[in-house]
Amino acid sequence: MPTIEDFYSEEREIAPAEEFARQALVTDRSLYEAGEDYESFWEAQAKSLVSWREGWSRVLDWQLPFAKWFVGGKLNVSYNCLDRHVEAGLGDRVAFHWEGEPGDTRTITYADLLGDVCRFANGLKSLGVSKGDRVAIYMPMIPELPVAMLACARIGAAHSVVFGGFSSEALADRINDAKSEVVITADGGWRRGKPIDLKANVDIALESTPTVKHCVVAKRTNTPVSMVEGRDVLFEEVMSGQDGVCEPEWMDSEDLLFLLYTSGTTAKPKGIMHTTGGYLTQVAFTHKYVFDLHPKNDVYWCAADIGWVTGHSYIVYGPLANAATSVMYEGTPDFPDKDRWWSIVERYKVTKLYAAPTAIRTFMKWGEQFPKSHDLSSLKLLGSVGEPINPEAWMWYYEVIGGGRCPVVDTWWQTETGGIMISPLPGVTTLKPGSATFPLPGIGAEVVDDNGATVTKGGGYLTLTHPWPAMLRGIYGDSERYKQTYWSRFEGRYFAGDGAKVDDDGFLWLLGRIDDVMNVSGHRISTTEVESALVDFPSVAEAAVVGASDDTTGQAIVAFVTLKAGEPSSGDKGEEIRTHVAQKIGAIARPKTIIFTDELPKTRSGKIMRRLLADVANGRDLGDTTTLADPAVVEEIRNRAGSGSSDEG
Ligand code: PRX
Repeated sequence: MPTIEDFYSEEREIAPAEEFARQALVTDRSLYEAGEDYESFWEAQAKSLVSWREGWSRVLDWQLPFAKWFVGGKLNVSYNCLDRHVEAGLGDRVAFHWEGEPGDTRTITYADLLGDVCRFANGLKSLGVSKGDRVAIYMPMIPELPVAMLACARIGAAHSVVFGGFSSEALADRINDAKSEVVITADGGWRRGKPIDLKANVDIALESTPTVKHCVVAKRTNTPVSMVEGRDVLFEEVMSGQDGVCEPEWMDSEDLLFLLYTSGTTAKPKGIMHTTGGYLTQVAFTHKYVFDLHPKNDVYWCAADIGWVTGHSYIVYGPLANAATSVMYEGTPDFPDKDRWWSIVERYKVTKLYAAPTAIRTFMKWGEQFPKSHDLSSLKLLGSVGEPINPEAWMWYYEVIGGGRCPVVDTWWQTETGGIMISPLPGVTTLKPGSATFPLPGIGAEVVDDNGATVTKGGGYLTLTHPWPAMLRGIYGDSERYKQTYWSRFEGRYFAGDGAKVDDDGFLWLLGRIDDVMNVSGHRISTTEVESALVDFPSVAEAAVVGASDDTTGQAIVAFVTLKAGEPSSGDKGEEIRTHVAQKIGAIARPKTIIFTDELPKTRSGKIMRRLLADVANGRDLGDTTTLADPAVVEEIRNRAGSGSSDEG
């Protein structure tokens, strides 16, 4: 019996369009060939994409599972993201077209950003922050956020950004784990037309964080905040009167650049450690080649939040290292209306858009009329990250948003990997809707079975076979947990919990988290494939499946399904959908029960929380709901499941 079964077959293939390939950075296999010797490959990238104060004595020191890249090299990340571009005459280039949710805008050039970062860096020093400290940042998506991150990088303090949607308790845990002495926040941020308090949360957190000496508060919503004398100080006051010049601290390649906590669902959050030289090399490389960046002409928009790794690597460090012009947007996609993103694309003439499948499926649900009411012809490439993208969602993105002319790059990576690992290179890779295709040059990835043997066709566990420059260097304060979590399942390989399959042509298809795999009559079925078959049904926008215990089959598949706007769930819809799944991928994968729902429970970063749905499907008490974006959604689903609107068969 295979480790995970392979049911879904996708026949569509899309080769790079001639017009795209003509202008693309990569149009042949030479980078892949160079990547076969991964050490010398990454050395060449580090030389060409990053400016070093001092060179390294060794490319890689690998003491499994501890890696050091560019050993002895010295550099500063903020110098690489700012000064060197200004020195090269690009001071007037726009770094960020920033747009607030209420509609206010700011245009920030590289010269502006450098000045602000230097002033704020000097201000942080005046508060006593120095090299090696850890600074907590809890902010909305305002320009002060990248300024704060880059200022930390400039003076050699590591930042620990905590997503602004997290609770005061989550914030306090992270401050305490990192022993931060300074917290940078704002009075609040705008969300769906309302001010959301942040400083008030910080005040609660700071009751239980003995290490914190100062709290810096940026003004955004102008909501009144309480300021503790001697501890709290306004962002603008920290900057005012400071010199616009601040000599960067020259850091060792392996000095800590940042911590980013991954919210384990049950256990204590893990402080993922990322260091300086290797991280910057890989994010600059991947940002340039995966998005086929032409920094003079492109307007690039990564629509994630900087509070997640996607924002760290592909709003802040990758794009700025490459002197790109980005859009940064503060708010939700449905304010004031459901066409906000498309209005942004049209107004700034966005050329490259990087978004999550959850957003794409939400747009599918809302309907084509919203993107269709705007001119999206500036777009040249679309990216996807964060979850498997179902083939139908991929096709919708490709056709409705990209007008059938923009390659879609599905990028697989993790907080732990720091940068993109598996992705097409859009000028050369033939695409298959729903596949992340192949490991990037210089990256080693393989699917293995339960015994660790390589799978060349079919499903199994996705592993990484050798170190890569942006890899996590550990879990802050817990090297044992680092070894156990990532390096113990398969000898000499990194494994972080995803299933994947390899098809006849060697393409990789991500199958979701291993913990979510269902066992139906002894068949190990991935949630992703059943969900893709469900989303393939024309009126279905989004679906999540889980296993419910079943006397006959061990587990039975329960599907939670969201329909596109205006589609009724009445009549035989449930039965039609079940039949469709059976036809598409096989009778064994036919859901036993379909439950229609308006929304699915998601984490704040937009991932479907199947664990909670499994609790509902199995009639258990709900587990931990602290990471849930909207707790009301599960209650609603529970009521529907309980009131028999399911379609038993
Ligand atoms: O399960 C995979 C899924 O997201 C996980 C990593 O989550 P996080 O650390 O929050 O980082 C998200 C941004 C990189 C992975 O283990 N994932 C991420 N990208 C993809 C994906 N699953 C399928 N396809 C992807 N492109």
